[in-house]
Amino acid sequence: MRAVIRGIGSFLPQRVMTNLEMSEIVETSDAWIQERTGIRERHIADEGQFTSDLGYEAALKALQDAGMTADDIDLIVVATSTPDLTFPATATMIQERLGMRHGAAFDIQAVCSGFIYGMHVTNALLKSGGAKRALLIGAETFSRILDWTDRGTCVLFGDGAGAVVIEAVEEGALLKEDASGILQTFVRSDGAHRDMLYVDGGPSRTQTVGHLRMLGNQVFKHAVTDIAQVIRDCAEQAGVDIADIDWFVPHQANQRILTAVAKRLKLRPEQVISTVAQHANTSAASVPLAMDTAVKDGRIKKGDLVMLEAFGGGFTWGAALLRY
Ligand code: ACO
Repeated sequence: MRAVIRGIGSFLPQRVMTNLEMSEIVETSDAWIQERTGIRERHIADEGQFTSDLGYEAALKALQDAGMTADDIDLIVVATSTPDLTFPATATMIQERLGMRHGAAFDIQAVCSGFIYGMHVTNALLKSGGAKRALLIGAETFSRILDWTDRGTCVLFGDGAGAVVIEAVEEGALLKEDASGILQTFVRSDGAHRDMLYVDGGPSRTQTVGHLRMLGNQVFKHAVTDIAQVIRDCAEQAGVDIADIDWFVPHQANQRILTAVAKRLKLRPEQVISTVAQHANTSAASVPLAMDTAVKDGRIKKGDLVMLEAFGGGFTWGAALLRY
């Protein structure tokens, strides 16, 4: 069996918050944010607009792109660290909104690496016969867990969602020349660095939601080293030369991280899809949001070799190689 991406979609809340607006809330400037991160603006969910709402809209677009309906889907996986509620899973809320009374739905929590972890798990389930057609969604409302008095973190994040429809196909049922599908996924984690990036609340410890805390410059160093290595490992496991990859769709944390990784791997800047200026860091939503942007504007085409990667709290990190 091969897991093939059949459709992609994304959704951003309407409200755009510029760096200038940010400078009215905390001691910062458009120049500082742009120079240190590349971010110009981010989208922020309205009051009453929840992670499940963003994920649902992205799912509808991915289904439409695939020419399918919820009836065709038997698995929903939602990557999020900002669920609507502690439980039930945001995935089951989206399942209900889609009118699905069959199949299974669950959440995955790997912070900014959630979509890559989700692809790792979904790929394995589809290939082993555990499901036939899956909706994999990354959806976040990080604006709800930011400390809006901490300029070191609140300027970095935004809200949004992205989704893909992935279908399990028998190799024999595909045309000989059709090489599309997920080729390799590889995930890593190391809990020793928990204190560098975490949320200081949770149901068991504090009975509060808490706020995001980060030692930004230390996370930065780990991110560059670990991302470059996981891309090398994923490509090697797939037997693919990095020079043969057409597009890199990184987690959109910081333009300087994207540039530093590209330099290490000798990638051309135009191969690296960057939406960090418009979206900021949308955590588990950032990879599918960036990929959808590049598919819809015609850069990523059928048959292209695409490497996805992410790094986030935990630490967690990972990469996924696919032929679109
Ligand atoms: N505006 C103005 N000044 C600021 C701001 C701001 N928004 N934020 C911090 N500063 C100041 C600091 O106070 C510090 O001032 P000081 O020298 O007087 O003490 C100075 O700028 C430098 O601070 P650094 O933290 O060293 O700045 P750095 O160049 O490292 O940039 C940043 C900070 C943007 C956070 C960067 O380190 C980064 O992007 N880190 C990685 C983030 C990341 O990748 N996270 C992973 C995924 S997130 C997830 O998993 C949820």
